[in-house]
Amino acid sequence: MSFSLEGRAVAITGASSGIGEATALALAGAGAAVALGARRKDRVEGLARRIEADGGRAVAIEVDVSDEAQARAFVEGAQSELGGLHGLVNNAGVMLLGPVEGTDTEEWRRMVQVNVMGLLYCTHAALPLMREGGGGHIVNVSSTAGRSAAAGAAVYNFTKFGVTGFSEALRQEALHSQIRVTCVEPGFVETELQEQNVNPVVLQGVEKMREQIGDVLQPGDIADAIHYALSRPQHVSINEVLVRPTGQSR
Ligand SMILES: NC(=O)c1ccc[n+]([C@@H]2O[C@H](COP(=O)([O-])OP(=O)(O)OC[C@H]3O[C@@H](n4cnc5c(N)ncnc54)[C@H](OP(=O)(O)O)[C@@H]3O)[C@@H](O)[C@H]2O)c1
Repeated sequence: MSFSLEGRAVAITGASSGIGEATALALAGAGAAVALGARRKDRVEGLARRIEADGGRAVAIEVDVSDEAQARAFVEGAQSELGGLHGLVNNAGVMLLGPVEGTDTEEWRRMVQVNVMGLLYCTHAALPLMREGGGGHIVNVSSTAGRSAAAGAAVYNFTKFGVTGFSEALRQEALHSQIRVTCVEPGFVETELQEQNVNPVVLQGVEKMREQIGDVLQPGDIADAIHYALSRPQHVSINEVLVRPTGQSR
C-alpha cells in the first residue's frame, strides 16, 4: 500500500498551528508540495522554511479565509505557485464556546465567517481549478461537534454540523468531476483552539473534559488520517473519518 503523495500539490488553511501545521508536515513528508495559509504570516513562513530545509516544497501565503477575495487569492496563488492543485484541506477554524443567552454575538460572526464562509469561499475557488485539472480532493475538517451537540457549544455545533452536511452534498456534486470529498471529524485534540476562550467557566469545562478523557489526541493523529485519505488511489473515496481519543465518550 502506497502512502506517497509525490507529484501532488495541496493547499492547507489554518497551517500556522495545531492540526493544519501537523498536516502540512505529514503531507510534505510524503512528497506533496504544500501551500500554507493562515493570518499569522511569520508562523507559516517559518513552517515553509522548515519543510524546505527538510527537502520538501512549501509556499507560505498570508490569508484571512473569512474574506472572499483573500480566500480566492490563496487558492489561486497556491495553484500558480505550486504548478497545480490536487488537494485542498479546509482546516482553518475557531471555537468560541459559551451559552447562547448573553453571548457577545461578535463571537458567532467570527465562527460562522471562518468555519463556514471561509471553507465555502476556498471550496468555491478550488472546484473549477480541480475540474479543469482533471480531478482533485477536498478535505473538510469538521468535528465530533458536527455530529453530536451539547449545551455550551450551540453555535460551534451549528457551524460544524453545517460542514458535515455540506461535505456530503458536495461529494455527490463533485464526483462527476473526479473530485473526492472527505469530512474529518476529530474529537479532543491538544492544540491552541481551546485557548481562544476567555470565559473562565468555559475554560474550566474544557479542562474538566480533558481530565475525563485522559490521553487526548495530538495534531499528528489527525494529520495521519488526512494523509491516509489523500493517498488512496483515485477510485477510493474516504468520505468520513471520525477520530476520538479512546477515553472520549461523546
Ligand atoms: N482541537 C480540537 O480539539 C479540535 C476538534 C475537532 C475539530 N477541530 C477543528 O480543527 C481545525 C483546526 O483547529 P486546531 O485544533 O488545529 O486549532 P488551532 O491550533 O487554533 O488552529 C486553528 C487554525 O485556524 C487558523 N485560522 C483561524 N482563523 C482564521 C482566518 N480567519 N483565516 C485563516 N486562518 C484562520 C489559525 O491561523 P491564524 O490564527 O494564524 O490565522 C490556525 O492556523 C478547526 O477547524 C477546528 O474546529 C479541532
